[in-house]
Amino acid sequence: MPHEAAIAPTAYTVDPRLWEATRTPTVLLVDGADVNRRILKAMLKSEPYRIVEARKASEAVAELEKQEVDLIILDLMLPEVDGPGFCRWLKNDRRTQLIPILMMTSVQGVENEIAGIAAGADMFLFKPLSPSVVRARVQSLLRHKAAVDSLEEAETILFALAQAVEQRDKHTGDHCQRLATYSVALGMALGLSHPELVALYRGGYLHDIGKVAVPDAILFKRGDLTKEEWQVMRAHTTRGEAICRPMKSLAPVLPIIRSHHERWNGTGYPDGLSGEQIPLLARILQVADVYDALTSERSYKRAMSHDEALATLREETARDWRDPALVAVFDEICSRASIPRPGLVAPPEWPNASPMQISMHNMSRALLKQQP
Ligand SMILES: [Fe+2]
Repeated sequence: MPHEAAIAPTAYTVDPRLWEATRTPTVLLVDGADVNRRILKAMLKSEPYRIVEARKASEAVAELEKQEVDLIILDLMLPEVDGPGFCRWLKNDRRTQLIPILMMTSVQGVENEIAGIAAGADMFLFKPLSPSVVRARVQSLLRHKAAVDSLEEAETILFALAQAVEQRDKHTGDHCQRLATYSVALGMALGLSHPELVALYRGGYLHDIGKVAVPDAILFKRGDLTKEEWQVMRAHTTRGEAICRPMKSLAPVLPIIRSHHERWNGTGYPDGLSGEQIPLLARILQVADVYDALTSERSYKRAMSHDEALATLREETARDWRDPALVAVFDEICSRASIPRPGLVAPPEWPNASPMQISMHNMSRALLKQQP
């Protein structure tokens, strides 16, 4: 089929050398002794780095808030918080956890090295320092950071692609955002783990990314699809999985992308899975997806009310299409979230949200700010 051949899965990896060529790495030196910082600056002078200095943890935090830092060189002994304590703090904060840390000390003893590594330092060096060793270690850590950055960048590209796919259909509006919100709310009600909830959130955006392989003539066709057209439409599940598979960080989202059109009685696609064979996260997203499709306006139908949509979901459950236990929980959390609460304000990006949507949106936002 020409459509399938035209859109082959793409890895979207960005060569780290591109990053190295376009951006000067910033290195933050955190050391209480002026002379130590001067020595390190002299050692790195020959390299194309931007050096920022801090004498203690609070100054380092202020610098980290001002700019993007690519490497932190940290002394074991600091005035306020010691090196390992500050290192642990940096590695536990989502904003700084991916910055490599090179810890160093003049206090000999393997126990210091163990303390540094245990606190999350990526490398440890004892003073006196050899300039060539310092430069080699710094280069190695910056190369690693560039690779991590390129992965994050690749992920950003995929999310942008998913949103571009969604925007092809002007009637779906903020479908992905709503779907992520409902799925996370349902996952929270079921007591799922943080990584599972994050996978649901991402699944809300990425589940239909394979539709990039479905031509407009099929995606927006009025009337019944032919057998061949259905094949193309159904392939959006496996296509989407293939597009996201090269990214390790998206591994937990793959079952959602592949299996979100399976049915409880085994009549869905692409694998004809039934009951609990269907991955739980895919079943959750499906309930949210169906609810959102029913309550959204399309060119060929009006938007159903909340009560009508839930009645339809229950009908589909009676037909053995949906997981009955999940539909019951969704029903319950919608009722609870619909109770008006004082001070409930719609987020700027979602001005027409209902009290139920605002309530669920606030829950999922709070979740994503938490540490895993
Ligand atoms: Fe889909």
